[in-house]
Amino acid sequence: MRTQIGIVGAGPAGLMLGRLLRMQGIESIIIENRSRSYIENRIRAGLIEHWAADLLTEVGAGARMQREGLLHWGINIGINGDLRRIDFRRLVGKRVTIYGQQEVVKDLVAQRLADGDPLLFEVTDVTVHDLTDSRPKIRFRHDGVAQEIDCDFIAGCDGFHGVCRPSIPQGVLATFERDYPFGWLGILSESPPPEHELIYSYTDRGFALYTMRSMTLARLYLQCDHDEAIENWSDARIWDELHRRLGGARELKEGKMLQKGITPMRSFVVEPMQYGRLYLAGDSAHIVPPTGAKGMNLAFADVVYLSRAFDAFYKRRDDTLLRDYSAKCLRRVWKAQRFSWWMTQIMHRFPNESAFDHRRQLADLDYLTSSESAARSLAEQYVGLPLD
Ligand code: DHB
Repeated sequence: MRTQIGIVGAGPAGLMLGRLLRMQGIESIIIENRSRSYIENRIRAGLIEHWAADLLTEVGAGARMQREGLLHWGINIGINGDLRRIDFRRLVGKRVTIYGQQEVVKDLVAQRLADGDPLLFEVTDVTVHDLTDSRPKIRFRHDGVAQEIDCDFIAGCDGFHGVCRPSIPQGVLATFERDYPFGWLGILSESPPPEHELIYSYTDRGFALYTMRSMTLARLYLQCDHDEAIENWSDARIWDELHRRLGGARELKEGKMLQKGITPMRSFVVEPMQYGRLYLAGDSAHIVPPTGAKGMNLAFADVVYLSRAFDAFYKRRDDTLLRDYSAKCLRRVWKAQRFSWWMTQIMHRFPNESAFDHRRQLADLDYLTSSESAARSLAEQYVGLPLD
């Protein structure tokens, strides 16, 4: 097989890149090691920044999001049950859209298949080769047959555990990492959320987040131990803790639990996001802790920059944007890292925190929710910094 851009991974980064390239008249082949039903049902965050929702609409994949997504013009911060609202409309005139990441994936897959562009599921034994040559290659097996794609460039959109990043020789990438001494236990419940907007609830017992997929489907998270076993959390224990961590601010209705899982918390960045003709985008290059839901939004920003760079290369033989790709992405990545780290550390209880740190954290929360300047700073980052 022969294509211009070989895309490894059909998550939000790979699928959006494929769509942007098609709009520019650039060919791509997307390969994915999971099945279509796996990627369409994999539960992730469900919060889309203002510009990213507009992007989905501009690329023609936003129709169902516009019908089914919820527009949120603010969030609530709870401090031991004292609920304070941050009003995005007043502070920055923007909103976020609540719509599950797997729904975005479904819409982008349906669009790609309708366009008739190649998208191969359940490929195995994926390897990438000749990354510093002018014709890099992707090898894999599909339906038992060994295949090779001869590409101009490869986009590594294959996530944190993918094969692209580890194919870059030792010593090329610098890695920046931080672990957190807790995780999130998340459930999906057939019940209304306790408020029509999100509640980020700090309590002395730990953090909880009350979000939703619709007004009848709640997505609820609890800060739990770092290496917590899900078996330790019966449904009754989860509900009991969710009630307590609302701190009496609202009533929480219980419902049937449809899904239960643990989300690890990690900050991770590699630099640069490129080696030869391999360009990394999304989770293959960076992971943020879930607080603030920046993961998919960052992946979209990467591929917007990457598609612009390919466009300049093919239309004008200008490789300036390709050379600048990594630096351009990393400026945004580090701001999102900083924001996600900050939201995480302000909302969670840390084991072994000192009494001083605990008082400082409460003052941070009080400042955030009582100073217009502080609230505006959160708002402009939460709804998404503009793409430059
Ligand atoms: C969701 C997840 C988040 O991490 C967040 O900050 C907001 C919303 C979600 O799953 O809806």
